[in-house]
Amino acid sequence: MAIKYSQKVIEEFTNPENVGEIEGADAVATEGSPACGDMITYNMIIDPETHIINDVKFRSYGCASNIATASVATKIAKGRTIEEIKKLTPKAVTEELDGLPAVKIHCSVLAINGLKAAIREWEKKQGLRKDGDDAEALDKETILRELRNVIHPETGISIVKMNMVRTIEVDDGKIFVELLMGETDEMFYENIEEETREHLEGLPGAFDATIKLNDKPITKGL
Ligand code: FES
Repeated sequence: MAIKYSQKVIEEFTNPENVGEIEGADAVATEGSPACGDMITYNMIIDPETHIINDVKFRSYGCASNIATASVATKIAKGRTIEEIKKLTPKAVTEELDGLPAVKIHCSVLAINGLKAAIREWEKKQGLRKDGDDAEALDKETILRELRNVIHPETGISIVKMNMVRTIEVDDGKIFVELLMGETDEMFYENIEEETREHLEGLPGAFDATIKLNDKPITKGL
């Protein structure tokens, strides 16, 4: 089945901006998507005084919307502070592109998570972040906020809005999420499990997740 992209996605994919590497970059990070195996590498220059991202470039190892979303993500990030970018959700990218097909939403997640991974790298280098900091800060509200970005592939509505989230638990970076699937959802189990895992993976400090779909627990390291 052909995927229908918006005109903006096609334009951005055909003429992406900020492609490449930066010599002497302050931070380099590569993020992969568990949903499809595609990857993005970001290079960044960040001002240590103002925390403004002065330059950012990307290399895509993925699909058309991987390229389009990364291009938009770099345009959003340039000139903003790392604090602003850390608050962004994938919606910032999808809105710029006039939406993405449901099966391609994870491309925007990858684009935003990649930016955040590069920022984390920079913070570590600057001594602003220690391993373990994030795990302590990870709480239920943060997880619930992130789950609002998981979209049911059939309805196009957030799984939180559909009241599918039954339980959230978190302990030292280990997440447990229980989702209540509808009777007709069986064919979407894999997709929803992958989408959910991908969103949880992007949360700083998360390193293990058990996602239980009705009675079927699936545990994997993130
Ligand atoms: Fe993998 Fe788009 S399908 S990033």
